[in-house]
This record gives sequence, C-alpha cells and structure tokens, in this order.
Amino acid sequence: MKLLVTGGAGFIGSNFIRYWLKKHPDDSIINLDVLTYAGNLESLKDIEKNPNYRFIKADVCDVDIMNDLVSQVDLIVHFAAESHVDRSIQSSQDFIRTNVEGTRVLLDAAKNSGGIRFHHISTDEVFGSLGLKDRAFNENTPYDPRNPYSASKAASDHLVRSYFYTHKLPITISNCSNNYGHYQFPEKLIPLFVTNLLEDKKVPVYGDGMNIRDWIHVDDHNQGVEEIIRKGRVGETYLLGGDNELTNLELTKIILDLMDKDEKMIDYIKDRPGHDLRYATDFSRTRKELGWQPRVKFKDGLKETIDWYKNNQDWWQRVKSGEYQEYYKKQYS
Ligand code: NAD
Ligand code: DAU
Repeated sequence: MKLLVTGGAGFIGSNFIRYWLKKHPDDSIINLDVLTYAGNLESLKDIEKNPNYRFIKADVCDVDIMNDLVSQVDLIVHFAAESHVDRSIQSSQDFIRTNVEGTRVLLDAAKNSGGIRFHHISTDEVFGSLGLKDRAFNENTPYDPRNPYSASKAASDHLVRSYFYTHKLPITISNCSNNYGHYQFPEKLIPLFVTNLLEDKKVPVYGDGMNIRDWIHVDDHNQGVEEIIRKGRVGETYLLGGDNELTNLELTKIILDLMDKDEKMIDYIKDRPGHDLRYATDFSRTRKELGWQPRVKFKDGLKETIDWYKNNQDWWQRVKSGEYQEYYKKQYS
C-alpha cells in the first residue's frame, strides 16, 4: 500500500511513520509537511534513508501539489494541523487556514482522484468541556468546541463527514485524547514540564491545576489509527482514549516525584482563557468493534518518556534553541 501522511514531521505523525514502516515494511510512505515551528525532520533521522520513505516539503493548502500527490497513493492519513490551544488563543488565522482550508483541499484532491481512502485525525476537544460528574464523550456527543483550535478541528470533522455523505468519499475519523511520548514539542504540558525540570526551571501550572485531561501513549493512539484503517467502517467516527484521567496537579506531582523534585518547583500562573475543565472519552464502541484498547500503563509510559527526554537532550535542546529548523535546509535544500 502507498500512504500519504500529512504532518508527518510533527509529534504524532512522525511516531506514526516509524510505527507503520516497522509494522508494514513493504508499504511506502510519502510524508508531506510544510515544516512550521512544530515540524522537525530531526524526529525522523532514523527513517530518512528508508527506500520506502519520501519527504516532500509542501503546504496542504497547495492545490496542485496535493492533487499530484494524492493521485499517487492508496490511502491518506491526515495529521497536518496547527495543534496548540494557547497559540490559537493568540491568533486563530493559521488554524483556520491549515485545519479547515487545508482539509478542504485534501478532501477535494481525494475526490478528484476517484475517491481515495481518507483517515482524518481529530481530537476529543471538539466535544467541548465536561463537568466533573458528566459521562465521558462518545461518538454521539454533540459538538461544542470552545476555543479556536477545537473550533477549527470541529469544522474540519464536519467537512470530512460531508464528503462522505455528498461525494461518497471513503472516510473515517478518529477523535483522541491527550497524547504523550517521544518527540513531542516542548510547548505541551508533559514535555514542557519534563524539559523545564531537567533544566532546573519551575513548571507553570495554569489556574488551580484542577483541570482534567485523559492521557494516552502516542503508540496506543497510532495503533488505534491502524485498526481503524484496517477494519473501520467507512463514514464512521471512532473515539480513542487512555482511560487515564488526571487533574493537571496530580499529573504534575507524578512528574515531580519521578524526577526527584519537590512541589516548590510548581509556579501557579494565570489561567488559560476559556480553559476547558475536563475531557474524557468513552471508547467502548471502538473496543467492541475493532478489538482496540490502550496497552501502555500510564506510570510505565510516563517514566519511559521522561527517560527518553533525559537521554535525548540534544533533540529538545535544539528545539528550544531553534537550531532544529536548520536541519531540513541542509537535508532538503
Ligand atoms: P504537531 O503540532 O506536533 O504537528 C503538526 C504537523 O503539521 C507539523 O509537522 C507541522 O509542520 C505540520 N503542518 C502544519 N501546518 C501545515 C500545513 N499547512 N501543511 C503541511 N503541514 C503542516 O501536532 P500533533 O500533536 O502531532 O498532532 C497531530 C494531529 O493530531 C493534529 O491534527 C491534532 O489536531 C491531532 N491530535 C493531537 C493530539 C495531541 O495530544 N497532540 C490529540 C488528539 C488529536
Ligand atoms: O485533548 C486532545 C488535545 O490535547 C489535542 O487535540 C491538542 O492538540 C493538544 O495540544 C492537547 O490540548 P491541551 O490543551 O489539553 O494540551 P496542553 O498540553 O496544552 O495542556 C494540557 C493541560 O495542561 C491543559 O489543561 C492546560 C494545562 N497546562 C498546559 C501548559 C502548556 C498548564 O497548566 N501549563 C502549561 O504550561
């Protein structure tokens, strides 16, 4: 099979490419990524010489390139997005462009190529914010996005589904909870806190730290995506999650403990505007239909992730200093 992976230089996409080529060594992958601040080819150094892997630096909004590339593949896995909520609060422009218009361009390319199988990577944030006693999100939960990032992802999900109903495009969608693992950009909670502590800096907890997220290892997410691609029914939405809800403060204390630091390292700062209180996913239908469930135990996965950041200081220090952006210029100029 030939795959087009968009956003494959980002956190989840780069892990997906590594996962897929290991599991399906005869498949070939085109990784299309425009290399925003979040795209980092240093996350794929071990893959770049694989003959079944090709990188193309391009924008998902580029109609000609997308039409050309999509016509060469059997499957599209669409990760490319602006992904950080805090950045969407500062400016939503890139979020609307990439997440909505980029998805539209890709959908049209898939339609124009005769209906290429299209898997869309989405988020549990599209369902809004749960109260402490509310039942977890499921496939039938009404959309209620509350920040510009989740609103743009919700719009993209609606567009993807509309191409199934209107154009019979064979799509599937997955809505997953908060990922953690290797190669995550140190702006998201876990890599930011771990790398700050490695530098002996404090960790900035928003508000009172009582907001709740559900954490899943990136490999479990990607295995779920694989199962949806293999066995999922077209037109369907599948929820993925880690069954592992924690308040941010609980998570912070676990990280501090694993890194032998004390609570004096916590800096309580001003809350995120419109901060969603709680996300949780009920993925029982995905489990029942596809036999998927998360396998990595959170404490084990987190400890292994912290060890990875300890042992790969070069990777994240080059990200924090900006040097990583020079790499592609040498490799792909
Ligand atoms: P990321 O920010 O690490 O990576 C995004 C990638 O997309 C980057 O490599 C970037 O260069 C690329 N990109 C951005 N704009 C582009 C454009 N116009 N054209 C081509 N490439 C472009 O994000 P991530 O955390 O890996 O998330 C990947 C996907 O998974 C996103 O769609 C996100 O909404 C979704 N998701 C993320 C999480 C999470 O916890 N990180 C959870 C659920 C769903
Ligand atoms: O739920 C899935 C979503 O998870 C994905 O769709 C997004 O792409 C991904 O970024 C993530 O969104 P969050 O906003 O939940 O992730 P973030 O790591 O930014 O924040 C996690 C929680 O920690 C959130 O409640 C805000 C809080 N936080 C975050 C940062 C960066 C802090 O308290 N301090 C921080 O410095």
